[in-house]
Amino acid sequence: MKAIQIFSYGDPDVLTVTELERPEPGPGQVLVAVSASSVNGHDALVRSGAMKIVSGRRFPIGLGLDFAGVVAETGPGVAGVRTGEPVWGTVHPREKHAVAGAAEYVVVAADRIAPIPAGLTAVQAAALVVPGITALAALRGATHLTAGESALVRGAAGGVGTAVVQLAHAFGGRVTALARTRHAAALIDLGADQVLDYRETSPGEIGPFDVIVDTVGTDLGRYRRRLSPGGRMVTVGLSGPAIAAIAASTVYGSRRIRTFSADPRTTQLAELAEQVASGTIVPVIDGVYPLADITSAHRTFDEGGAMGRQIVRMNGPEGSGTSA
Ligand SMILES: NC(=O)c1ccc[n+]([C@@H]2O[C@H](COP(=O)([O-])OP(=O)(O)OC[C@H]3O[C@@H](n4cnc5c(N)ncnc54)[C@H](OP(=O)(O)O)[C@@H]3O)[C@@H](O)[C@H]2O)c1
Repeated sequence: MKAIQIFSYGDPDVLTVTELERPEPGPGQVLVAVSASSVNGHDALVRSGAMKIVSGRRFPIGLGLDFAGVVAETGPGVAGVRTGEPVWGTVHPREKHAVAGAAEYVVVAADRIAPIPAGLTAVQAAALVVPGITALAALRGATHLTAGESALVRGAAGGVGTAVVQLAHAFGGRVTALARTRHAAALIDLGADQVLDYRETSPGEIGPFDVIVDTVGTDLGRYRRRLSPGGRMVTVGLSGPAIAAIAASTVYGSRRIRTFSADPRTTQLAELAEQVASGTIVPVIDGVYPLADITSAHRTFDEGGAMGRQIVRMNGPEGSGTSA
């Protein structure tokens, strides 16, 4: 089978298509024939070496946090998963993998997959899995957005941002989106009430907001000051400066900067599938690339300016959702 691996950290040219033996699922694991995987911020960070404190110096490292495909085989002790079922999921985000989602086959624990929602193709599912899970966790678990509240979404045209805009609108929020002006019409279609160009807007000019969801990870202290008296803020962009700002903000109690690290499991994937089924969220895809051209997908991601996700498509089964 073909898989994407890196043998050193660096720019997208380090991404290599390798030929490997098809892996076998062990106890409690499933083998998924992957149809599509997306380029997550996590993948770019692993590839570049920005996460080498976690990913270490031992190569090869497999790329592709998420995947959508069909179950090819189940390991001993796996119940409730059937071969041929279209599924979406992620590899463990905090573990190192020699083979991950950007491969023709991947082995994961059975609790890391769930049926692809009805009506989504594998390409669409791959675009939504991490953004959707992250947006749900940001708006429900972290900030508890309620109907009628104002919400600011920073990085609104990104993979995660497009999901946050949609769910914040669906939960009754009045959504201000920070993104490039050229994405304004598309973001308004997704549910934004107002779109401001982040290159021409300073935090002091906007707000206050009841909820701020940041996907960028810079300038956090200045945005936090734009919270209303009962406001809540979360960031998912976990750079070094972000971690310092999060730590420094704990003195502000409920108005601190919150964060979390999404770890999608079957339960969360099922909750996201309910949102898809009720029509509150759709995948936003910027481009689709063949596995052999994953370098171009990463290059586009690194360049910025996209609206939604870059997807890498395998040659295998399409694996569209059929379940309720
Ligand atoms: N903690 C978690 O559980 C979790 C989960 C998912 C993702 N993440 C992290 O969240 C971040 C975003 O992920 P993603 O996949 O959504 O990335 P993405 O698709 O690249 O989106 C990032 C967005 O931020 C925008 N942006 C960049 N600089 C900005 C600025 N100064 N002000 C306002 N917007 C700015 C970008 O716009 P332009 O391209 O137009 O510059 C882009 O639309 C990454 O760091 C990722 O690792 C964390």
